[in-house]
Amino acid sequence: MSENIKVLVTGASGTLGSAVTPRLVKQGYAVRPMTRSARDGWVTADLRTGEGLDEAVRDVDVIVHLASSPGRPRQTDVEGTRLLLAAARKVGVGHVLYVSINGIDRVPYAYYRAKLDTEEVVRASGVPYTILRAAQFHDFAETMLSMLGKAGPVLVDPAWKLQPVAVEDVADRIAELIARPAAGETTEYAGPQVLTFDELARTWLAARGKRRPIWRLSFPGKMSRAMRAGGQTTDATPAGTRTWRGYLAEKY
Ligand SMILES: NC(=O)c1ccc[n+]([C@@H]2O[C@H](COP(=O)([O-])OP(=O)(O)OC[C@H]3O[C@@H](n4cnc5c(N)ncnc54)[C@H](OP(=O)(O)O)[C@@H]3O)[C@@H](O)[C@H]2O)c1
Repeated sequence: MSENIKVLVTGASGTLGSAVTPRLVKQGYAVRPMTRSARDGWVTADLRTGEGLDEAVRDVDVIVHLASSPGRPRQTDVEGTRLLLAAARKVGVGHVLYVSINGIDRVPYAYYRAKLDTEEVVRASGVPYTILRAAQFHDFAETMLSMLGKAGPVLVDPAWKLQPVAVEDVADRIAELIARPAAGETTEYAGPQVLTFDELARTWLAARGKRRPIWRLSFPGKMSRAMRAGGQTTDATPAGTRTWRGYLAEKY
């Protein structure tokens, strides 16, 4: 049934896009992956300039919108989404699924403010929508730990909380949501466990056989307070099933 459904995937080359694209192809969708660089079988378009977007949305039924640029979120995420969805509305795209981030309304952070504004662009676009706010991916939690450990010891606020999720689980959830009509809803989606940064750092170092020290400090500021209060966590259901420890065991 999904054979005749054409899906444009923006951000198809990214971490989540690399899991979503093969998943949808396997389910029989006619997938059109989008990138800024020329690639065989992909459509080339740039959200920042708008170049290529009319071609990208032509004959498309569903858009899975994953492209994002944390370094330039105003131009790429907010204004780029406005351009993408104006083009989509013109040709009558039936459903846009936008992937946002869990807790962006609870944790004060510049990129998150841009994601909130992008959500508003999606809601006002006139294209039927679903917004999925996903928690931090396992590999992103690792990136955060690497940054906190740059100087040698891993410097953490031990009470910061995350509920990391597997990209494979997010990809499954996206596939479920696009199989239904657009809900006009915003839902959260996270992994099966809430973990403190103390637990994340300990399990991460142990999985890699590292004996580096963990330095624990209560980080100052509003963002930190929100992270300690569980601003990035959710009790929304369903949740992912793949655990952080499972991810580490598979990788190391
Ligand atoms: N990482 C996380 O932990 C996490 C958690 C929750 C939600 N999210 C959200 O999930 C989505 C995907 O995240 P990700 O980590 O998979 O992203 P990523 O790996 O950083 O990939 C970003 C993608 O955006 C595309 N892109 C960047 N600028 C663009 C532009 N001007 N025009 C068109 N495409 C552009 C890139 O495509 P090319 O370079 O091929 O052009 C790339 O495929 C994002 O919206 C992010 O906010 C991420």
